[in-house]
Amino acid sequence: MIHEQVNETPGQDLDLDRMPGHWLLARMGKKVLRPGGIELTTQMLDALQISPDDAVVELAPGLGVTARMAIAAQPASYVAIERDESAAAATSKYLRPGSDRCVRGSAHDTGLEDGSATVLYGEAMLTMQTAAQKKAILQEVFRVLKPGGRYGIHELALTPGELADEIKAEIMCELSSVIHVGARPLTMPEWRDALIHPGFEIVDGATAPMHLLEPARVLRDEGFPGMMRIAFNVARTPAARRRILAMRSVFRKYGKHLCAIMLVARKPAY
Ligand SMILES: C[S@@+](CC[C@H](N)C(=O)[O-])C[C@H]1O[C@@H](n2cnc3c(N)ncnc32)[C@H](O)[C@@H]1O
Repeated sequence: MIHEQVNETPGQDLDLDRMPGHWLLARMGKKVLRPGGIELTTQMLDALQISPDDAVVELAPGLGVTARMAIAAQPASYVAIERDESAAAATSKYLRPGSDRCVRGSAHDTGLEDGSATVLYGEAMLTMQTAAQKKAILQEVFRVLKPGGRYGIHELALTPGELADEIKAEIMCELSSVIHVGARPLTMPEWRDALIHPGFEIVDGATAPMHLLEPARVLRDEGFPGMMRIAFNVARTPAARRRILAMRSVFRKYGKHLCAIMLVARKPAY
């Protein structure tokens, strides 16, 4: 369980020049840390159709923005598995006593029982995993979902589907070096195949531009007060400003080859 005294902003003790890009953004006040923003999240949640009968599991909730939206649908239970202690503490704030919990752990080994979830989802987490880790996490998801259960992802994708390997490698290398996290997006057909491989059937999907750091998207995701708070924090933190501008410039440089993807799949009901 998460202790209340844990700082709820991840990466507080890390160096601004080296910390993972998502925690740098969180430190500046950004709460929505996924490539397609709240709009693609809303599309994913709509397709997942969470109802009071559902046992929901979220992998890597980050600061708990989607947790709050999922819990608003009043599922029977909500469990989150988050690797970062501060993020887990931030998510815990939104939980209903008795029915919900946030566990510090890893998505590939959740400790949850076979078939214990009817809905499971994760955003902006698989992209940062190696091929072997992605495979292990997707197998774990398949195990934890009940037959007939729904699975949603919201991740970074490369486009078009037949993008040359050298361009893929160049984009992954530049992205990883600027965000200081291994960025391993797949093409849209590769994401679909990754889900089909353990046995899922794809039932829905959508894409959105990768506009994580574009002002219009920041305004939509964070609201006006949130955007102003971020702008103020960035303006008085030159090291963060330098890094955020560098990240945005790589996102823009490869804009035509990057997008956000959401897929919803179903575990066959046998
Ligand atoms: C880019 S952030 C996205 C957070 C949130 N899902 C969102 O979209 O705003 C990535 C999150 O994945 C978590 N994470 C990364 N690898 C993980 C793993 N193997 N198991 C659980 N959480 C993980 C990080 O701690 C972080 O909270």
